[in-house]
Amino acid sequence: MEKKQLDWSNLGFGYMQTDARYVSTFKNGAWDEGHITDDPNITLNECAGVFQYAQTCFEGLKAYTTEDGHIVTFRPDLNASRMVDSAKRLEMPVFPEERFIKAVEETVKANETWVPPYGSGATLYIRPYMMGINPVIGVKPADEYMFRVFVTPVGPYFKGGAKPLTIRVSDFDRAAPCGTGNIKAGLNYAMSLYPIVKAHEEGYAENMYLDPATRTKVEETGGANFLFVTKDNVLVTPKSNSILPSITRRSLMYVAEHYLNMKVEQREVLLSEVKDFAECGLCGTAAVISPVGKIVDHGTEICFPSGMDEMGPVTKKLYDCLTGIQMGRIEAPEGWIHKIV
Ligand code: PLP
Ligand code: COI
Repeated sequence: MEKKQLDWSNLGFGYMQTDARYVSTFKNGAWDEGHITDDPNITLNECAGVFQYAQTCFEGLKAYTTEDGHIVTFRPDLNASRMVDSAKRLEMPVFPEERFIKAVEETVKANETWVPPYGSGATLYIRPYMMGINPVIGVKPADEYMFRVFVTPVGPYFKGGAKPLTIRVSDFDRAAPCGTGNIKAGLNYAMSLYPIVKAHEEGYAENMYLDPATRTKVEETGGANFLFVTKDNVLVTPKSNSILPSITRRSLMYVAEHYLNMKVEQREVLLSEVKDFAECGLCGTAAVISPVGKIVDHGTEICFPSGMDEMGPVTKKLYDCLTGIQMGRIEAPEGWIHKIV
């Protein structure tokens, strides 16, 4: 199949309209059977739940072309079940997990020419999402919903690819202690827009959010979980009820333990101990693993020994192993790779 003529190796992380997307509608208590459409636009009533009370959640995963020429996705079952958690917390109907996976498959297949070739450095980002679509003016859940999936070819999330980032400790919170930080609600990202614009204006790539209750513990950034490596080679990742349970982070913890023979700890991480770590990285579907070279905490610089030129050595091993599994160069644990084509 002839691929689109794109400059695959120089793509950024942006939206590009592709040929096809999936849509299913929930009405009278049931999802319809769903279909692929070429129409990228949605026309909704002005009072739709999504517009008035932000009743929307989403997911993010990627399709990869493997070394042997297949198109695969990575652990889509975990995205499907996380979307169930998001839907329940937002009083939305659950889109069945097996249907979620089928919808992803159909959308990727219908856009096969848009899947970046192996070795190009680009991947196909897949965005499933759901929203309340009928008018609601009293504060209550909608009765009707739309579930959709679109795809867009993407390059690195952060400009500069694998160059270490400088981030800062934020004075804003992205999630409340018993709020919605642990689900993928659109409202969490709306909350983060003002702080991210300010951070970018001041030259930082991202914000490090702290736990909103005590402001002493590391949570996550606007779009990725944290990984730290201690000076004696332990992978440490923050534990909190208000961060998104990243599929990349969960996978990396397994990779560290079972492929790299590292000790792994998921525990509360105090901001005051961050200066003692050897390496720091951000992980997520979009971020993959993006190294952090420096964290600025209100004028105090925390500089990791791995420096500002290259990924730290452990971060690099984790990166190579994870992307090796995703691209079919390294044998994956059972069930991680979902073949589409
Ligand atoms: N944290 C936040 C706030 C995110 O938006 C994402 C992206 O999905 C992640 C973490 C990483 O999660 P995952 O690895 O499942 O993509
Ligand atoms: C993802 O990694 O899929 C996300 O949703 C993060 C977002 C900031 C692009």
